[in-house]
Amino acid sequence: MCGIFWYKWKTHNIKDVLLTWLKRLEYRGYDSAGMAFLKKWEVKVVKALGKVANLEEKLRNITIDNSFEAGMAHTRWATHGGVTLENTHPHWDSGQSIFLVHNWIIENFKELKQELTKKGYSFYSQTDTEVIAKLLEDNKKDTLLKTVESVLPLLEGAYALLIFSKDFPDEMVAVRFGSPLVIGFNDQKEIFFSSDTQALAGFADKVIFLDDGDVVGVKGNDFVIKSNGKLISKAIEKIDVESLKAEKWDFPHYMLKEIFEQPEVLKNVFRGRVDFKSKTLHADAFRELDKLDIQRIVFIASWTSYHAWIVAARWFEDLVGLDTGVEIGSEFVYKNFKVKPTDLYVFISQSGETADSIEALKLVQAKGGKTFGIVNVVWSTIARVTDMGMFTRAGTEVGVASTKAFVAQLGTLLLVALYLAYKNGIAKPEFDKIIEDLAAIPTKIEEILYRENANIKDIAYQLVDYYNFFFLGRHYQLPIAMEGSLKFKEITYLHSEAYPAWELKHGPLALIDEKNPSILIAPNDLMLEHNISTLEEVRARKGKVVVITDSQAIKGDWNIKIPSTNRFLYPFLTVVVSQLLAYHAAQKLWREIDKPRNLAKSVTVK
Ligand code: M6R
Repeated sequence: MCGIFWYKWKTHNIKDVLLTWLKRLEYRGYDSAGMAFLKKWEVKVVKALGKVANLEEKLRNITIDNSFEAGMAHTRWATHGGVTLENTHPHWDSGQSIFLVHNWIIENFKELKQELTKKGYSFYSQTDTEVIAKLLEDNKKDTLLKTVESVLPLLEGAYALLIFSKDFPDEMVAVRFGSPLVIGFNDQKEIFFSSDTQALAGFADKVIFLDDGDVVGVKGNDFVIKSNGKLISKAIEKIDVESLKAEKWDFPHYMLKEIFEQPEVLKNVFRGRVDFKSKTLHADAFRELDKLDIQRIVFIASWTSYHAWIVAARWFEDLVGLDTGVEIGSEFVYKNFKVKPTDLYVFISQSGETADSIEALKLVQAKGGKTFGIVNVVWSTIARVTDMGMFTRAGTEVGVASTKAFVAQLGTLLLVALYLAYKNGIAKPEFDKIIEDLAAIPTKIEEILYRENANIKDIAYQLVDYYNFFFLGRHYQLPIAMEGSLKFKEITYLHSEAYPAWELKHGPLALIDEKNPSILIAPNDLMLEHNISTLEEVRARKGKVVVITDSQAIKGDWNIKIPSTNRFLYPFLTVVVSQLLAYHAAQKLWREIDKPRNLAKSVTVK
């Protein structure tokens, strides 16, 4: 999604800082980008459509010397209005005095715009952000902070705002209301505001995490934080963002790099948490879980993370014997749900900033539900707001198509399931066998990456001659079929659908013919015989089939071999095949793999 940033100059060059930050955030939203530079009574704005490189090109001919004291930047993922320069942030008022960048959405912007139009204001863009600029102009007070405070009650929705004005050149105001925002500091007493903590790497090493409703007024080198109109103080926290920098090394795309990182990522997930010798599990979060009497686990997440949930739900049912509910955040928020004291609500999110999951989390907490987060980004909202949780330790994931974050989610969730299974009295030999087989999973993923990759690439190159695909799986492999299908459509732009294999005959079989191939995920588990029947069913209609399996008993038009493992652990292997299949097909089609069209890395809008 969009990102917002503000920087007050002391030592670094303002243009360089803003550009570095925009490049780091480009993976979130990349329809257009813009900057504004401020010095007393003068503001320079530069905007460009498309990649940040286009903005960089424009900036080459513009001098921003050190007389400019502050700057703001924005990378836009279009929501209100098309991808045009007019709609690109920063936005301003009629007199080009007030400038602001904005994340997320003002829901009542149409009503506000109508009222302002009646008062004689005209608008150059279709954005909700310009409406805020005109509202500020309409409610001008004797300081910028007072001006902003007088307008906030008029805004409905959720947003983060960074605002400065030529009329108050000493001031700057930041607002967090439902969209992430942090203040960064360094030893040079420089101050930064960023919608993404990680993007502060190298610039700031201390932050204040703002909460919803916080309004920050900067004046000169000082600042105040207000909440509900009252001054409040907040702790400054030390962070280690350096360690989270992501580099592409020699891989052509971040996605491929991240796929190949997965064996290491899983080892990180297990490190210090699984003692493979004594076959015991350890984590602070487990001690928190010990205090609870959990009878039901409800999982809430969005798409890729939701697929990890479905796999996990099977583990919690099969290994722990718990009832589970799996919910998509965006749908859950409309439900009239009841919270029981024996429920645990588990939220999983790579970014920890997915708006739908955060909204669901707030609803659950308002009803007194216990919440557990499984999150990758350490300083994210979900990580901070849930009652307890575990980090997935995948490291920074840059590719919009999530890969290593998914595998890390699976690993973390399995550890929680195994811990509860142990407490619930799973047979010790079965428990020990799963732990033993789990230890070998990183190596088995390596086998796929280094032995089977060429075959997968070859098959993927042939598949791009087709336009429609079915991804089929059963039980543990159904969520993997869903994830494989998502990855495939997300980066190849070819149509694919996932189905529970047996459901074909309830409708989709009508589409099976030689033009619409299927990818059947059929490891040597309890479902193999059923999958052999599915294969026959599809081939009888001349459908071509790619089979992902470790069994000799099933042969498709193309076969992709995976190593054998414990029946509970196949998802770790089959998903890697589906990621590579999608990657190579997209690469053959020359797609923008790391930044697929219309998508953003973290979906911070509803
Ligand atoms: O950050 P989250 O895990 O909450 O994100 C959820 C989805 O937006 C995300 O998994 C999305 O589906 C990916 N682009 C899939 O590759």
